[in-house]
Amino acid sequence: MALAKRTFDVVVVGAGGAGMRAALTLSEAGLKVAVLSKVFPTRSHTVAAQGGIAASLGNVNEDNWHWHMYDTVKGSDYLGDQDAIEYMCRAAPEVVYELEHFGMPFDRLDSGKIYQRPFGGHMQDYGKNPVPRACAAADRTGHALLHTLYQQNVKVNTNFFVEWMALDLIRDEDGDVLGVVAMEIETSEVMILQARATLFATGGAGRIFSASTNAYINTGDGLGMAARAGVPLEDMEFFQFHPTGVHGSGVLITEGVRGEGGYLVNKDGERFMPRYAPNAKDLASRDVVSRAMATEIKEGRGCGPHGDHVMLKLDHLGDEVIRHRLPGIRDIALKFAHVDPAKEPIPVVPTAHYMMGGIPTNYHGQVVAPHGTGPEDVVQGFYAVGECACVSVHGANRLGCNSLLDLIVFGRSAARQIIEDLKNNPNPKPLPADAADRPLARLARLENQKDGERVSDVGDAMRRTMQAHCGVFRFPDLMAEGVSKIREVAERVRRTEIKDKSKVFNTARIEALELDNLIEVAQATMTAAEARQESRGAHAREDFPERDDKNWLKHSLYYSEGHRLDYKPVRLKPLTVESFPLKPRVY
Ligand code: FUM
Repeated sequence: MALAKRTFDVVVVGAGGAGMRAALTLSEAGLKVAVLSKVFPTRSHTVAAQGGIAASLGNVNEDNWHWHMYDTVKGSDYLGDQDAIEYMCRAAPEVVYELEHFGMPFDRLDSGKIYQRPFGGHMQDYGKNPVPRACAAADRTGHALLHTLYQQNVKVNTNFFVEWMALDLIRDEDGDVLGVVAMEIETSEVMILQARATLFATGGAGRIFSASTNAYINTGDGLGMAARAGVPLEDMEFFQFHPTGVHGSGVLITEGVRGEGGYLVNKDGERFMPRYAPNAKDLASRDVVSRAMATEIKEGRGCGPHGDHVMLKLDHLGDEVIRHRLPGIRDIALKFAHVDPAKEPIPVVPTAHYMMGGIPTNYHGQVVAPHGTGPEDVVQGFYAVGECACVSVHGANRLGCNSLLDLIVFGRSAARQIIEDLKNNPNPKPLPADAADRPLARLARLENQKDGERVSDVGDAMRRTMQAHCGVFRFPDLMAEGVSKIREVAERVRRTEIKDKSKVFNTARIEALELDNLIEVAQATMTAAEARQESRGAHAREDFPERDDKNWLKHSLYYSEGHRLDYKPVRLKPLTVESFPLKPRVY
């Protein structure tokens, strides 16, 4: 079938914080940039980020980038690559000031400087005391960020393809990436978008779990496309559970609540975090707090008739602070938990939130596969940033507010790298004859499938499997069973049928295509989790409760074909400073 084709210098897939930060620098440089988004750009999932952007501005208490780097390395349980972490923490103040100059409406201190609040795991003086490091716009920081970046992109004439879904990567026989095949959601029109550089900024895949803080659009599209094109996925066993999702709905309650002085209590009204983290208490890192909550629940100190959650208490902050600093949380508590947080605590439970793994990259956003760090491993023409990428600054556990930072630091660095790379690559390479074969075959299978299963039924089976077999605590038998169950679900995905082929908004077809991506992520996560025989960061195994640096201080690489796992070393050497040596991790 002859498909329509459009050619750009750069195609960016995803219009969240990372994609739009990159697009801005690329368009400013005069490049012809297309940004594809399944939703209107300001509805991308970055809009849901609440608490802030981490940067050592020191506006409230003394702070510096090296303390931030230490916290991030420690937070990652030493699996983070220290070159990338140094790069990010050093760049943080500059990228935040850039946003300020773009017009981002940060909250202000009385001094007029950007307001900063404490967040989990962010400490002064190499782990001593919590430090206010999260630069915040009330509890709607992602919303403010996304609108600012969208307006800046409109100003520089970035081309937006709104409600378009990328289906598959185009790779030639050298393995170079030459663009994507994409579909307009409303019309099903399929088009080739050819580009000299393709940047994935497709966000996370929290929708592999039943209970998630993530939007329904977070279906791991970039990872699915990369996996199908033979690119490995790195560190997929590490999935973060945010301590405070609203019990029953999963909606996020920002850690900024605890940054403002809120704390967790069990059914006896006991503030339990000091027993688990005597120094940082409720501001320990997320994996520590989530495990503490799960332990309270497991040991019978959970709240409610089923004892299946704990309470987040913030009434002592007072109505005025809540309305001023946490207005969105007040709304969420009223709407989803039916409580006024100025009077009653919010029922919360650890909820799937963030994928530390992703498409392997270096800190220039270049995709590096299959192994290591040398230039021979760079996949020409292919870049990834934000949650879909594994750079790896978060290692085994991400600190809160380091994700918005990751988006803007690496969005900018990838754009700068692309600008350099395109100087040496002035003409697009010819497209291979089979450029669109894979996505067209996927679409044809969906059209022609008879007596198949409903997409929603198979999707539910996947989500239930992940929730039950790959949670906060991981058990050997459950994980082994989870691997075979998720493979069975993958077989069922191949036999799904679109029952309602109505073209109206085309949602059934899109859900089926998204499930192809979700199942790649779910299989990678389950397989890599079962294989890693230690506990590190968010990966807590009942049978291997300790971190094992001798055998497991390494990144996993999962290949979709054959479900093969490989491993590569952690980059322990920073750019300019000494490495932080391995230590037991206590808060
Ligand atoms: O708790 C929060 O506001 C979430 C922040 C983050 O995931 O970085």
